[in-house]
Amino acid sequence: MTDETSSAGSPGPAETHEEGWIDPTERNWFRFSIVLLVAFAVAVGVAGFALGFQVPGDEARVDPRTVADEAPWSDRIDNPVREVAPGEYVVYMIARQFRYEPNTITVPEGSTITFYVTSIDVQHGLKIQDTNINLQIVPGQVSKLTTTLDKAGTYPFICHEFCGLGHAGMFGTLTVEAGEG
Ligand code: CUA
Repeated sequence: MTDETSSAGSPGPAETHEEGWIDPTERNWFRFSIVLLVAFAVAVGVAGFALGFQVPGDEARVDPRTVADEAPWSDRIDNPVREVAPGEYVVYMIARQFRYEPNTITVPEGSTITFYVTSIDVQHGLKIQDTNINLQIVPGQVSKLTTTLDKAGTYPFICHEFCGLGHAGMFGTLTVEAGEG
């Protein structure tokens, strides 16, 4: 017994393709996706290796309730910038509602600065204009990043994480002095 009713009246089979055939539109989307992946990989590579953008390491854990009174952060106002080697500096910074401590930093041209930043209340951000410094500041965690400042000038920094009503007033200045270094 043959089944004639199922095919009778229905259109014939669509055009057939050999094994492995891909619709041209789909093939183009595959190609586009691959190009996109390669482009992203190159962008990440250039940013990371050539431009110095690094994911801040989870440097250390601290107690946000006490860290402000503990060395080396306790000395942040009196001694905001420490020279650890010729031309190499470290800054221990506290972010809090709604200021940075310290909020003015001065180093000679050509310096390398390593920032160790933590928050004692809520999440903040630290973005220093025209540098690779762009950090998420999380209470209890120390964010660390290094930058080299070859050009004299003023580099404003701002909080880029909404942290409360005074957020917009949370900023500071990094000054790189010409001449030395
Ligand atoms: Cu601190 Cu916004």
